[in-house]
Amino acid sequence: MHVRISRALEWAGLGRRGLRVTFADNGCGISAADMPRITEPFFTTKGTAGTGLGLALVKDTVEKHHGVLRVRSSTKSGRSGSVFTIFLPAASCGSGA
Ligand SMILES: Nc1ncnc2c1ncn2[C@@H]1O[C@H](COP(=O)(O)OP(=O)(O)O)[C@@H](O)[C@H]1O
Ligand SMILES: [Mg+2]
Repeated sequence: MHVRISRALEWAGLGRRGLRVTFADNGCGISAADMPRITEPFFTTKGTAGTGLGLALVKDTVEKHHGVLRVRSSTKSGRSGSVFTIFLPAASCGSGA
């Protein structure tokens, strides 16, 4: 697992200034079928070992900060893994953030 934090401009939309946090792993990856559901509360592929709450909480928290969560993943054998990118906009004066 690699974590990287850098100053960034939002890659789309408003082009806001902020912070980008990237989490990358070389795990099993996320299938295209599962991808649309991974931030759904209680969605888990880990049976009773999972709660399905991790990414739901991440998405909710990022959105409360007016940020953006992006996920890219590959399940190809030999090169599988996932990259989670969080963009958090810098607080502007008087925003109360
Ligand atoms: N880094 C990852 N690599 C592969 N699959 C992942 C990863 N993170 C999340 N997932 C997939 O998304 C599902 C939901 O994740 P999460 O909300 O953290 O719940 P949990 O970890 O309890 O299952 C996981 O069960 C798994 O299928
Ligand atoms: Mg989890």
